[in-house]
Amino acid sequence: MSITRRELLQGAAIGGAGLVVGKVAFGGDATTTGDTALSGDVGKIAAERGLLDEDVIHAVKTFVAPGKPSMDSHLLFASGGHSGQILVMGVPSMKLMKVIAVFTPEPWQGHGYGADSSDLVMAAGTSAEGGAVSASRPKLGWGDTHHPALSETGGEYDGRWIYINDRANGRIAMVDLRDFKTKQIFDVPNLETSHGGCFVTQNSDYVHISTMQPTLTDRSKAESLITDYKNVMRGYSTFMAINQTTGRMEQERSFQIELPPYTQDLADSGKLVSDGYAFINSFNTEMAFGGNMEGRPPMEVGASKNDFDMMHIINWKLAEQVIKDGKFEMINGMRVIRLDVAVAEGVLHFVPEPKSPHGVDVSPDGNYLCVGGKLDPHVTIFGFDKILAAIESKDYEKLDEFGVPVLKFDSCVAGRVEVGLGPLHTQYDDKGYGYISLFLDSAVAKFSLGEPYFSGEEAFKLVDTLKVNYNVGHLVAMEGDTVKPDGKYLVALNKWSIDRFPVVGTLKPQNFQLIDLTGEKMELLSDTPIGIGEPHYVQSIRTERIKSWEVYPAGTNPLTMELDPNAVADGGQRVERTGTTVEAWMTVMRSQFMPDTLHVTKGDKVIVHLTNVEETPDATHGFAIPRYNINVSLDPGECATVEFIADAEGAFAMYCTEFCSALHLEMQGWMLVSV
Ligand code: CUA
Repeated sequence: MSITRRELLQGAAIGGAGLVVGKVAFGGDATTTGDTALSGDVGKIAAERGLLDEDVIHAVKTFVAPGKPSMDSHLLFASGGHSGQILVMGVPSMKLMKVIAVFTPEPWQGHGYGADSSDLVMAAGTSAEGGAVSASRPKLGWGDTHHPALSETGGEYDGRWIYINDRANGRIAMVDLRDFKTKQIFDVPNLETSHGGCFVTQNSDYVHISTMQPTLTDRSKAESLITDYKNVMRGYSTFMAINQTTGRMEQERSFQIELPPYTQDLADSGKLVSDGYAFINSFNTEMAFGGNMEGRPPMEVGASKNDFDMMHIINWKLAEQVIKDGKFEMINGMRVIRLDVAVAEGVLHFVPEPKSPHGVDVSPDGNYLCVGGKLDPHVTIFGFDKILAAIESKDYEKLDEFGVPVLKFDSCVAGRVEVGLGPLHTQYDDKGYGYISLFLDSAVAKFSLGEPYFSGEEAFKLVDTLKVNYNVGHLVAMEGDTVKPDGKYLVALNKWSIDRFPVVGTLKPQNFQLIDLTGEKMELLSDTPIGIGEPHYVQSIRTERIKSWEVYPAGTNPLTMELDPNAVADGGQRVERTGTTVEAWMTVMRSQFMPDTLHVTKGDKVIVHLTNVEETPDATHGFAIPRYNINVSLDPGECATVEFIADAEGAFAMYCTEFCSALHLEMQGWMLVSV
């Protein structure tokens, strides 16, 4: 049987499933080896470029032909780290499609440069306690995006919204996947910082975020952190209620559960059998707080003394009832179930987890919780059925010093697998395997789960290890967080890239490595440098689940996704003065602003309503008055409003920032500010 080159390319491009290539030989002339026949040109080019046979196969497996976007079967939504944004990339091409502006101003998308739709979002996210608190440093101009969480229905991604936490400030943002724009930034009360979330519950009832470094409960007593840490510091597990129509978080329906001042870290939501529960790792149960100049050990030593830290098991469905029963206190506008109440009501349990754990990741069937212990070479696999039985029979080892019942480790563990050094995060495929990143080994380990996936000797076994380059943190398998993972590919998020790319200065890019999961052995397919921030975590979704709009219905305000009352129809233009306010209604289209001249008096309040009346996908215009720091992106159909005080006199150039037509440069105008 011979396979045509076309078939080979197609077969390989969808992931190589069922493809028998044998050993492909490339020579000067056309060669036939095993079941394949390849043109000699391929061999010649490969030889000239120094590519090995396997390199060519990897290229064919990942190449997306021009004009064939559907060959990217999945999209990655990667946190952008301290860029404060979200990166959208294709798989297997690994091409960057978009950087979604979230916490940090972004000029291309006009995010944070005068448009009401983004300015209001950003302002709302910097107003609460925990925002920028210093008058000398008033602006929160960045975020540290960490954990993206795609919305779910029945434990599967539904393509509606994505949430992401700001590790720096304990905030959380919502992006609407109808237009890939940030619609809400919420500064969560009582959170100083947040690392280990967010995640959504399996029907997106809530998005969860918790503290990392705990919060000082009384800001006026900073020094009591040193003298009375145990009593004045607290952690909070936050369940932000999601409006099922808008995707927005609603503070009045949300609640928090007070936690001991351990360092709450990675977390995950229960699913299927464990729906209604949430799991949070913690480290620093030693409650160390540094002080290396004052005779105390540095954090890294002080926080690594205990052999076990405590996984938090939170019954949030029960917490909902406790809230309904009124057993909460309002703290900074948030309903909080106090620690003693949480314990008394059975909302909170602990189970010991090996020393300084990092990820806790729930398996697709909801029954296994895989915990990587940074300082333990095993992945510890807890069984939710065992945890539940231990809770029901009050199979406690002890009460911890805050009175929280601690379940017996041995009663809750289903299996342990020695995987290598520095295990962190686990992802799952569709065949009952887990894939865990090994930071210290710079590797990914593949291991089997127990029943119903594998039983007897086959369960809880290390089956493969692949070296990655280098220092892998998180990793993602396709839809590997859901109840129905796709398998196929894995992406390792490597912190270091040392010798993998041309040297581009002293700050090196991170390295996303694409790995093929379809074979018996994991296989490295490609390296992709990430030159913006340090992406922390990624979720992947099947491309077809995203149903983004290409054009807004005419006159839509992205903030409301409804017709803006100030939108104008095609060609409409009007300027009105009321006292010292000048209000303009402007049509924006190829290739002019109507009106294109604004006459104002110094000190006037200027309000400009801009409507891009284009109906063609991609017919975006910009509206910039650079010297006033105004830069708006007006996507087709979009209406936005800019408001400012004309406090500097002069003739100020306005122009369209997007190359929209042959006469794009002519798309300009003037704002004349006279005394
Ligand atoms: Cu409109 Cu350029």
